[in-house]
Amino acid sequence: MPIIGIDIKKCSNCQACIKDCPTRNFSIDDSQKKVVFNESNCILCGHCISVCPENAIIHEDMEDEILEFELSQDSSTYISFESIHKLFRVKRSVRQYSSEKVSEESIKRIINSMRYAPTGGNMRNLKCLVISSKERINHLTDSIINVLESSDTRELFKSSREKGYDPIFYNAPHVLIIYSKNPWDTRNSTIAMTYGMLSAETLGLGSCWIGYAHGILTDFPHICKDLTGIETYVLGVMTLGYPSVKYFRAPPRPPIQVREIN
Ligand SMILES: Cc1cc2nc3c(=O)[nH]c(=O)nc-3n(C[C@H](O)[C@H](O)[C@H](O)COP(=O)(O)O)c2cc1C
Repeated sequence: MPIIGIDIKKCSNCQACIKDCPTRNFSIDDSQKKVVFNESNCILCGHCISVCPENAIIHEDMEDEILEFELSQDSSTYISFESIHKLFRVKRSVRQYSSEKVSEESIKRIINSMRYAPTGGNMRNLKCLVISSKERINHLTDSIINVLESSDTRELFKSSREKGYDPIFYNAPHVLIIYSKNPWDTRNSTIAMTYGMLSAETLGLGSCWIGYAHGILTDFPHICKDLTGIETYVLGVMTLGYPSVKYFRAPPRPPIQVREIN
């Protein structure tokens, strides 16, 4: 979405872009008495597009539509604290799935939610691999179990496998792997996946972080490449599917210790 410039016919010279641009790319051209844009250091965050009351920022397409706020930009008009807080509490890591496949459309919607997660410096390198083949997921599970360090866990997991249970991906119909050419995307991928998981929840879907798979795919790049084709950095792995378990209440969690410095 490179910013191309300012539509001077629309610009009212309010200078909101100058105040809000994190990389200070807008300034006043004193000779022409108008706001000008300088693209150096622009991180394409789009704050100028958001903040301009006149919609005067000209930018290239990014296969996305601008979302116009219907009422105001006050988020509480879209979702209440109580609703989002309840969603945070209700969401469980799901480890029992029905075999029903999730529609391509729903998977697309979930991945699309990840797109709007914040990223350091507005870097946008994340990619997502969706594995929906039972055989491939089984193969991945077996390969992961084979290289587990603890022989006790390995044997335990192997005996689960013999009973038809998948102790890594929990027989989920889909596995999503977030990866990137950039190892610094670790935090970005965690936030993006959290967005995706919370969105999945609102579609009646369950998910679970699979740190085991993440660790093994990182430590054994040849397994990763052979089974997923990923040659860059795996940054997060999650399951996705319709839960075959019902939860009746949210468990308590210990408080976060707070310390204040005045
Ligand atoms: C980074 C990370 C890695 C995780 N890896 C696994 C995993 O490999 N297998 C698993 O069953 N759960 C995994 N979990 C899920 C946690 O066990 C779970 O979030 C925690 O027990 C709290 O339960 P809840 O998510 O249902 O509230 C992981 C969670 C996180 C945040």
